[in-house]
Amino acid sequence: MENVTIMDHPLIQHKISRLRDKTTGTNEFRTLVSEIAMLMGFEALRDLPTELVEIETPIETTKQPMIAGKKMAIVPILRAGLGMVDGVLNLVPSAKIGHIGLYRDPETHEPHEYYCKLPEPIDQRTILVVDPMLATGGSGADAITMIKQHGGKNIKFMCIIAAPEGLERLHKEHPDVQIYVGALDRQLNENAYICPGLGDAGDRIFGTK
Ligand code: URA
Repeated sequence: MENVTIMDHPLIQHKISRLRDKTTGTNEFRTLVSEIAMLMGFEALRDLPTELVEIETPIETTKQPMIAGKKMAIVPILRAGLGMVDGVLNLVPSAKIGHIGLYRDPETHEPHEYYCKLPEPIDQRTILVVDPMLATGGSGADAITMIKQHGGKNIKFMCIIAAPEGLERLHKEHPDVQIYVGALDRQLNENAYICPGLGDAGDRIFGTK
């Protein structure tokens, strides 16, 4: 699929396997989510724009590449996406952070934005949307639609585990968005959990279960 990258790095795979283990506790889980986000972010941000900047080394003056333009925006989808922010911030400490929260009307299944705060000017930033689990693809696709409505243009989406159904939907609704997936799992179950998955990412990150 064009614009879709499935990570096949052994370090990422190993850490995701640790996440899947139900005996992995909150502390280790949180650390792993952050580390995976950093490793994936390294790849997802490889096309950040650079510009040549004059630098004086102890030897001579030279022009060397530095990150150009407005600071990028990291946008976690609440709540589990918050767990991935620190890892990306390790790479880009000056990044701005937006937040997006959605809930689905249980009757109509229509998405409702209950919170959206994005760094301006959003149209001039590389935007990295993060959510550990891409299950049905509903909230990811809706979050990106909302970011586009606010003017976002250069959008990337990063998740740790995806279900085939969610990946297909997100790609179909937003073919312009580059999607980075840590591991592509088998399927969703009847409760929209990813199988084999890792359970509820938000509960495991925040220790709410
Ligand atoms: N969200 C989760 O946290 N886990 C799943 O398996 C699916 C959605």
